Amino acid sequence: MTISTADIRRKFLDFFAAKGHQVVPTSSLVPHDDPTLLFTNAGMNQFKDTLLGIEKRDYNRATSAQRCVRAGGKHNDLENVGYTARHHTFFEMMGNFSFGDYFKREAIQFAWQFLTDELKLPKEKLLVTIYHEDDEAYDIWAKEIGVPADKIIRISTSDNFWSMGDTGPCGPSSEIFYDHGEHIWGGPPGTPEEDGDRFIEIWNLVFMQYNRLADGTMEDLPQQSIDTGMGLERIAAILQGVHSNYEIDLFQNLIKAAATVTGTEDLENQSLRVIADHIRSCSFLIADGVMPSNEGRGYVLRRIIRRAVRHGYKLGAEDVFFYQLVEALINEMGGAYPELKQQRTTIEKVLKLEEEQFSRTLERGLQMLNDALTDIGDKQIPGELVFKLYDTYGFPADLTNDVAREKGYTIDEAGFEKAMAEQRKRAQQASQFGKDYNDTLISEQLSEFTGYDNEAGNAKVVELFSTDDKTEQLEAGQTGMVVLDNTPFYAESGGQVGDTGILEMKGGVFRVTDTQHMGKAIAHKGVAEVPLKVGDNVNAVIDSERRQAIKLNHSATHLLHAALKQVLGEHVNQKGSLVEPERMRFDFSHFEALTHDEIEQLESVVNEQIRQNHSLETQLMELEQAKAAGAQALFGEKYDDDVRVVSMGPFSMELCGGTHVNQTGDIGLFRIASEAGIASGVRRIEAVTGEAALAFSQAQSEQLKQVAGKVKSEPSQLVERIEQILDQQKALEKQVQQLKQKMASQAGSELLSQAYEISGTKVLSAKLEDVEPKSLRDLMDTLKNQLGSGVIVLGVPGQGKVNLIVGVTKDLVGQVKAGELVNYVAQQVGGKGGGKPDMAQAGGKQPENLDQALASVATWLEDRL
Ligand code: ALA
Repeated sequence: MTISTADIRRKFLDFFAAKGHQVVPTSSLVPHDDPTLLFTNAGMNQFKDTLLGIEKRDYNRATSAQRCVRAGGKHNDLENVGYTARHHTFFEMMGNFSFGDYFKREAIQFAWQFLTDELKLPKEKLLVTIYHEDDEAYDIWAKEIGVPADKIIRISTSDNFWSMGDTGPCGPSSEIFYDHGEHIWGGPPGTPEEDGDRFIEIWNLVFMQYNRLADGTMEDLPQQSIDTGMGLERIAAILQGVHSNYEIDLFQNLIKAAATVTGTEDLENQSLRVIADHIRSCSFLIADGVMPSNEGRGYVLRRIIRRAVRHGYKLGAEDVFFYQLVEALINEMGGAYPELKQQRTTIEKVLKLEEEQFSRTLERGLQMLNDALTDIGDKQIPGELVFKLYDTYGFPADLTNDVAREKGYTIDEAGFEKAMAEQRKRAQQASQFGKDYNDTLISEQLSEFTGYDNEAGNAKVVELFSTDDKTEQLEAGQTGMVVLDNTPFYAESGGQVGDTGILEMKGGVFRVTDTQHMGKAIAHKGVAEVPLKVGDNVNAVIDSERRQAIKLNHSATHLLHAALKQVLGEHVNQKGSLVEPERMRFDFSHFEALTHDEIEQLESVVNEQIRQNHSLETQLMELEQAKAAGAQALFGEKYDDDVRVVSMGPFSMELCGGTHVNQTGDIGLFRIASEAGIASGVRRIEAVTGEAALAFSQAQSEQLKQVAGKVKSEPSQLVERIEQILDQQKALEKQVQQLKQKMASQAGSELLSQAYEISGTKVLSAKLEDVEPKSLRDLMDTLKNQLGSGVIVLGVPGQGKVNLIVGVTKDLVGQVKAGELVNYVAQQVGGKGGGKPDMAQAGGKQPENLDQALASVATWLEDRL
C-alpha cells in the first residue's frame, strides 16, 4: 500500500509540529499586500515581513503546506510543463521556517532526519548541493551528517542562492537531490546533463541572511533565518515508486479525467499532462479571485487556460471540455482545500466562458501559424507574426511558442516585445491627447489634509506652478497649480474625484477646478483671477454642495461592494471605481450579466442599510489589525502600515482614505442606473444617490406617464394597454396585406387591358409610375398568373433612372428569352441587365427614352413569335 499525497502532507506537518513549529495555514495565491509579487510562489511569501524583521509573530518556528503558482513573474515554469517529469504551474510546497531561531545546523539535521528516518529514503540515493563558498554547510553535511564528499556538490550560480524576487529576503541555499536511477537520462547538478530527469531536487534549504534592495545591493537581515521548501508532488513520486510527478495518484486521476473529456485513449500523451497540470493552477487562481483579463495576474491566468484549451484541441476535443475537469480536481483536492468546493460554480463558469471565447479564433489562428511555418526558413517565427497572432487571434506569445516548439521552431521574443511596446506607445499617445499640464512637474512639499472635518480654512501658499513650470507668481487670468501648507480640498484618489472651490484672497479668488496629488503635496488646479504669489495667505473653501454629493456616492460605493458580495457571492472583487458628484461607477469581477432580480436585490440591500442609519466610523489602525478585523482591502494594492478603516455598522468595513457621510441615512436613496460588461469577467454598475436618485426615479415615472399619455392610458394600466395596441397592430397588418393583394390584382387587370397580340401571343409592354423596384417582381408574378401565357415588359421611370423588368411565361421561353429582351430594351435607355429565361431585370439612366424603348418591343417580338 503506497502512501497517498494527502498522507505525506500530513506527515510533514506533524513532524515539524512535534519539533515545536506552529502549523500555519496556506495563504491565498494572490499575495494581499505585496505588489512585488505576481503570485504566491513559495512557502516563505506569507512570512516575508517576519523574515525581514518588520513583523513580529508570537512564534519563531513555523511549518506550512503552501499552494504556489509559478507562471509569469520571477519563478516561471509554464513553458516547461508537458516537457519534463517535474515542472508544474501549480504545486504544493511544504516547508519549515525559523525566524531568528535555529539556523543551518538544525535545518540540515531536521531535513535529513525527516527524509531518512521518517520517510525511510535510502541514504545512498541522496546527494546535496551547497553554495560554492558555504564551507559551514559543507562541514555540517560531511562531518555531522556523514554524506560522502563526492555527493556534496558546490554550485556557484544563482541555483544555490535563492531569492524571492528582484527584491526581498535571500540567501545561500543547500538542495537535496534524489537519484531516480541509471535507467533515466540526466546528470547530477552542475553537469551539462543536469536538466534531465534522473537527479531531481526534492528539498531546498535556504539560509536567509540578506535583503536585496531595488538597486541590487544586499544588506544583512536583522537576524539569520531558515526557509525551506519541498515539492509535495516530487516527494510523492519517489514514495509511490514512480519516476514522474505525473504518475502519482493525484495526477493519474486527473489525467484519466482529461482523457475522458477529450476522447483520448493514449494516457501517455503529453497534452494530457499539460491539461492535468493547468486545471489545478487555473481552478485555484479563480478560487482566489483572479479573473481572465488582458493584464497582470488575469493575463497569466488567460495564458494558462488558452494553453490548456489548445492542447485539448490537439487531442481532438470536440466540445468545451476544460471546465469539466473541475469535478475531478475537487475529488482529488477538495478535502484539503474546501474553497474549491465553495467556488465550484464560479470556477466552472469562468473556464467555460474563456474557452468558448477562445475557441472561436483558435482554429483560424492555428491555420495562419501553420501556413506561416511552411514559409519560414530560419526556424524562428518573426516577432511581428507572434504579435499579430496575439492581437488578432488572442494567442499569448507562450502559446505560439508552445506550438512552435513542437515543430522545432523558436519565436523571436525580442521582436514580439518590440511590437507590443509600440502598441502600448500608440495607446498611450492616444490617451495623452488633450492633456494641458506638463506631467513631469514634481513637488517636494507636504500638505496637510484637513478636509475630513472642515470645508474651509486659512492656509499659506507654499508653492506655485504654471502649466509647465514652477513659478513664484501667477498673474491674473493665468492657469496653474497652487500648493498650500494645509487644505480642506480632497485630492483625487481611491476613485473619488478631486474637490473644486475657491482660494479667497484680498481682492479676488483663485478658482479651483480640480485637485490632484503631486507626491505628498496637494495641488489645486485652476485659474487665478487676481495675482497670487508664494507666501500669500488664502482662505481655502471647497464647493461644499458638490462635496456633499460626492460623499453620498462614496459611502454608497462601500455599501454596494458589501451588497454585491452578499447577493452574487464572495468571488466579487472591486476592480475599480469612480466617485463623482453626479453618480458613482463600480467595476467588479463577475462572469455574467446581472439579472433584473439581482439588480433589484442589490438596490433593496443597499437601501435597507441606508434606512438602518448606521453611524459612519473611521479608525486608524495597523494594516494587519484591519485585515484581521475583516476590513475589505483591494487585491494587489500597497497600503501604508497605518491605514484608515471606514465602517458602516456591521455591514461594511473597508480600507479607505475618502470622505464619507456621517450616517448612512444621509444617502437617502440608492438607485442603479445601468449594469454592463466592460471586459471579460468584469462588470460595471453605475448608480445614483440622494437627490440624483430621486431625480432618476422621478424621471422614470415621468417617462412612464408620458408614454401612458401617448397611448391614452395610466401608468398602472400601461402593460395591458400596450398588449392591446400590439394585438390591434397585428390585426391591421393582416388587413393591409389582404388589401395590398386585392389592389395589386385590380391594378394587374387594368394593366392587362392594355395587352395586345402578336401572332396569337399576348404581349404587354407598359410604363408604370410610383412602383418600388422591390415590388416589381411580385407584380410580375401576379401579372404572369393573370395573363396565363404571354410576354410582359414593364418600365418604371424615376429621377434620371429607369427600372425594367421582363417576364415570359414558361410555355414561351423556347422562343423568347427574358434576359435578351430586357437587354434589348435596356440598351435604349442607357443600361443593361440580366436574369433567368422567364424573368429578368435591368436598370437604365435615360428615362426620356423609355416610351420609345417600350414601343420597340413589338417589332423585336415580331421576328421571334
Ligand atoms: N523558498 C525556497 C524555494 O522556494 C525554499 O525554493
